[in-house]
Order: sequence, then structure tokens, then C-alpha cells
Amino acid sequence: MTVLASIRDLTVTYRRDGREVAALKGVGFDIVAGERLAIIGESGSGKSTLALAIAGLLPASARVEGRIDWFWRTQPILGTVERQLRHLRGGVPLLGRDIGFVFQDASTSLDPVMTIGKQIAEVARTHLGLTWSQAYAKAKTLLQRVHLPDPDSALHAFPHQLSGGQKQRVAIAAAIAAGPKLLIADEATSALDTIVQAEIVGLIRRLVAEDGMTLLFISHDIALAADLAERMAVFRQGQLVELGTAARIVGAPAQPYTRALLDAHIGLDAEPLLNRSGLNA
Ligand SMILES: Nc1ncnc2c1ncn2[C@@H]1O[C@H](COP(=O)(O)OP(=O)(O)O)[C@@H](O)[C@H]1O
Ligand SMILES: [Mg+2]
Repeated sequence: MTVLASIRDLTVTYRRDGREVAALKGVGFDIVAGERLAIIGESGSGKSTLALAIAGLLPASARVEGRIDWFWRTQPILGTVERQLRHLRGGVPLLGRDIGFVFQDASTSLDPVMTIGKQIAEVARTHLGLTWSQAYAKAKTLLQRVHLPDPDSALHAFPHQLSGGQKQRVAIAAAIAAGPKLLIADEATSALDTIVQAEIVGLIRRLVAEDGMTLLFISHDIALAADLAERMAVFRQGQLVELGTAARIVGAPAQPYTRALLDAHIGLDAEPLLNRSGLNA
């Protein structure tokens, strides 16, 4: 078992209107290389704050304490989160190259006035040092890999010409264009209807397996997370309250909060979660 990143005593406080909001309170866990790890919890529990901290994307209004240590070079890169953020400019870890990030809303990731081919090619060009024509060839391959219909003409399309699900496919293609080791998907399927959601989850599963990526799958939907992830970390009010295999957490949640998340889901669609996930098979 190889640790990709170790997160220790991570505390993030936002300042807004002279008030302090503690979004993460002393969080610690490891991300294991090659695993599919889900971060779950209700809205406001600190999931996005965690994702942004890991990706070095926190706003300037956030105060960060604790550390995130990365182990994906031969030499471990050790340091506090703040030093880590300064490392970003030096290149380790670099968003786009080492970490791919997919947001809930594709309009956050995609530029409305740039063709999707150019947006994907730009990532490949910047991080892999390709020429434009090599980068466009790579973009076309990526559009094929995410199963976008008619990749040749899609290269020249603008985001508004695509459906919500297609836009997320493009956002995923851009996120993996430079071959990142870690893919972070923050509620990447939450805005989509159930059928499209299942397709995108299947797509993420396939791409992560094909490229040997580590996945951080962030969702408020514990059933969806249990379908995809091997391990789950349950967050509540900025704290990590439960960490374990998806099978154990779904089969025997240790925390009443986790049980409530499960019950809320089962109550909604009356479909037994264990059957759905195939975890008791
Ligand atoms: N930029 C911000 N400024 C101030 N407070 C924020 C900001 N982003 C998030 N928060 C607060 O931090 C807490 C955790 O939010 P977030 O990490 O977005 O949770 P989740 O992704 O689980 O819904 C919430 O109370 C939220 O209101
Ligand atoms: Mg969020």
C-alpha cells in the first residue's frame, strides 16, 4: 500500500464579514495510491473545502493550518499546506498536470467563448509540451475516450452547443488531458439527472481504471459513492467522523450520522442500498 498524500490536522477557517467560519476542524487521513476514495457528508460539512485545499484552490480569505504531504515523487515533498501552496508555482503538485479537478457545474470548468477542442488541447500543450497540432490530436482522442459523439466536429463546438452530460464529459476530458495522478470530482454528477449521472459515474470508473489514477469522489449521495468507491470518509460539520471500506460503512455504519445518511437515501427511493451496490453479493 503506497500513500499518495497524507493529510494531518487540517483546519480551514474562512473569514467573511468579520465572522470566522471553521469549515474543516483538524482533519487527518491518507489517500492511498490507486484507490477510489469517496468523501461524503451533507451540504456544508466541508467536502468542497477539503477538495480545494488538496488542489491548492482555496480563496485568499481562507486561513489554513496543518499539513498535506505528497509522496508522488521519488523524494517526498513535505511541508505545511501554506508551503504547499507556494510549491504550486514551482510545480509540485500542479493543478492540471498532477491533479485533475472536475467541478459540479461544467460552466465553472469550461470557457464559454473557446471551442472545446482548444480548451482540452490547451491543457495538453501547457503541461505536456505538445505543439498545437499534437495537442488537437490528443484532444480528439480524449473526446473519443469520453464517448462524445462525433469527436471531429465536437472539437470545433462551443460548450453551449452541448447537453449538461456532454459538457461534463468534456470537463472530464480536460481534467485528465495531462495524465494527472489524482482526479478530484466534486459533486461532478450532482446536477445531472439519474440516468446521465449513472453514465458519468461509469465513465469516471473506466477512465480511472484505464489510466491508473487515484480518485477522490466527493458527493452528498452515499449510495452513489458506495457504488463507485472502495473506501469512504464521512464528514460532518468539518470533522471526519467515520473512515472505512465502503462495504463496511454501508453494511455496518459506526456513527448514527452515517446511518441517518443511509436511511435518508433508502427512504427516498425505497431501494435497498446493499442490493444496489452489490456489496452483499
Ligand atoms: N468562500 C467561503 N467563504 C466563507 N465561508 C465559506 C466559503 N466556502 C465555504 N464556506 C463555509 O464553509 C462550510 C463548509 O462549506 P463547503 O466546504 O462548501 O461544504 P460542502 O462542500 O460539504 O457543502 C460551510 O459552512 C460554508 O458556508
Ligand atoms: Mg461542496
